Amino acid sequence: CGIVGIVGCQPVAERLVDALKRLEYRGYDSAGVATLDHGVMDRRRAEGKLFNLEKKLSEEPLPGNIGIAHTRWATHGVPNETNAHPHFVDGVAVVHNGIIENFSELRDELLAEGAVFTSQTDTEVVAHLAAKYRKSALDSKAAMLATLNRITGAYALVVMFADDPNTIFAARFGPPLAIGYGRGEMFLGSDAIALSPFTNEISYLVDGDFAVVKTDGAQVFDYSGNPVSRARQISQASAYVVDKGNHRHFMEKEIYEQPEVISHALSHYVDFADHTVKPADAAIDFKNLRGLAISACGTAYLAGLVGKYWFERYARLPVEIDVASEFRYREMPLSPDQAALFISQSGETADTLASLRYCKDSGLKIGAIVNVKESTIAREADAVFPILAGPEIGVASTKAFTCQLAVMASLAIAAGKARGLITPADENELVRHLAEMPRIMSKVLNLIQPQMESLSRELSRFKDVLYLGRGTSYPLALEGALKLKEISYIHAEGYAAGELKHGPIALIDENMPVIVIAPHDRFFDKTVSNMQEVAARGGKIIFITDEKGAASSKLETMATIVLPNVAEIIAPMVFSLPIQLLAYHTAVFMGTDVDQPRNLAKSVTVE
Ligand code: G6P
Repeated sequence: CGIVGIVGCQPVAERLVDALKRLEYRGYDSAGVATLDHGVMDRRRAEGKLFNLEKKLSEEPLPGNIGIAHTRWATHGVPNETNAHPHFVDGVAVVHNGIIENFSELRDELLAEGAVFTSQTDTEVVAHLAAKYRKSALDSKAAMLATLNRITGAYALVVMFADDPNTIFAARFGPPLAIGYGRGEMFLGSDAIALSPFTNEISYLVDGDFAVVKTDGAQVFDYSGNPVSRARQISQASAYVVDKGNHRHFMEKEIYEQPEVISHALSHYVDFADHTVKPADAAIDFKNLRGLAISACGTAYLAGLVGKYWFERYARLPVEIDVASEFRYREMPLSPDQAALFISQSGETADTLASLRYCKDSGLKIGAIVNVKESTIAREADAVFPILAGPEIGVASTKAFTCQLAVMASLAIAAGKARGLITPADENELVRHLAEMPRIMSKVLNLIQPQMESLSRELSRFKDVLYLGRGTSYPLALEGALKLKEISYIHAEGYAAGELKHGPIALIDENMPVIVIAPHDRFFDKTVSNMQEVAARGGKIIFITDEKGAASSKLETMATIVLPNVAEIIAPMVFSLPIQLLAYHTAVFMGTDVDQPRNLAKSVTVE
């Protein structure tokens, strides 16, 4: 899931592993590094965490000033040392992110020619092809081009040849890959964060690019070998401190950062002095739109689901929303009087990108709500709405989610205003509420921390948990369940409170706590009726509400978490805090790997 390469003037092995550490946040299950020294190519690989690889390297160091390294998130073949990258075939070393879709045909062809495969990966065919073309007397660059013209799928590839001691080759079709420019050294990496200790001068490869990287620079070509030029830019990644500060985990740090990053994000979209929203990017003509399509994956999708409620309510814009892996294949009829919004923290998620391209082909204007401004999704959009959350390292998304919400709330108000549906007085009031949010979030974080910690101890005893909510609290129920299962591995389901009686009620007993998210809003009484249905069947209730809600419900609960009364528009962000903290402390209590939960990846660039 992470790639690094260095063509340097001093030893690279340790620096490669340090750079991999900066990519750890993407999730992985094995890792490896290969270097080249006086024509000798060698590698160390290890299953599991990077310290296993570091241990091997300290026992058997790797010399050499040129090398490539990889953290792998298994797609084809189990996560063991044999399947870990780099893959070696006859003097060719390959690391790869993504999937080679025609690997089985290629493997059959290579097997028929006598090739011997040592792993179960799709990547190994790339090494075999490159070695085969190199042996057929092509030079290494020509062998690479021949290889690239044979493979299909999604890939970021970095390749080294034992008999070409000063060059690393790279190619991109899907997953991101950046070239870093150093002094007398050149770098390759999956993102600017990996490269930030080395350089902040970066250029991004685009799909169909092939790069030849040497100590003194890089040349980029298309797959026919024609030169192309990719602009260098100065990355902001090194400006961010990517460490945990005083926190035990990145996730905890990111939860506590939310008041600050949200206020930063909001200041981009609203004017705090006169309590107005700034007009949305003119590329999307909200005034004359007939509808909006929203698509995303995971937590970003759930942010979109909250956005649907807002765009429909404040801007009277019908919203069609789906997870990107379905959206892209639904063959949904779309017309240019609709616009499409794609939400993605990384800006690289393969399914979200494919949905974007589908909408673009249908003539829709594209808006991207992203954290990484240089990402592919941002680059392909007509309007970019940055969420300005700073790097999110914890695999389970927290601050990106609430910043996505803050951006969408502002956009929904701007859209309502553009459509003549929001009066200046309403606008003023809504923006005043948004402006109060960072302060309220800080207060809530301090207020609920001890209760969340003790409640988590109790929650960790259960095997299944149900989350319920109505209105914008329904997507929060889904997000609460997702967060809990992602990091604590406790099975959890989120349901619309009104759906309880259509199925999940059959599961209610004293062994399955029900977490009810219910601010005292328009739906409160209805949600309380659903809670009654749980209580009547002996269910254990964890009630997340506000002061008004707590005062008006007399039901006995396992725990009641009381937040301050807040305006409806900011409730989804404020109520995200207890569900994040509950998942976080439960996972800490259970001793799981909170920042890098098993099997998950931060950035999913495969379908
Ligand atoms: C992965 C991550 C999730 C994230 C989802 C979408 O599954 O583990 O935390 O919500 O991808 O990622 P994106 O970068 O598009 O927001």
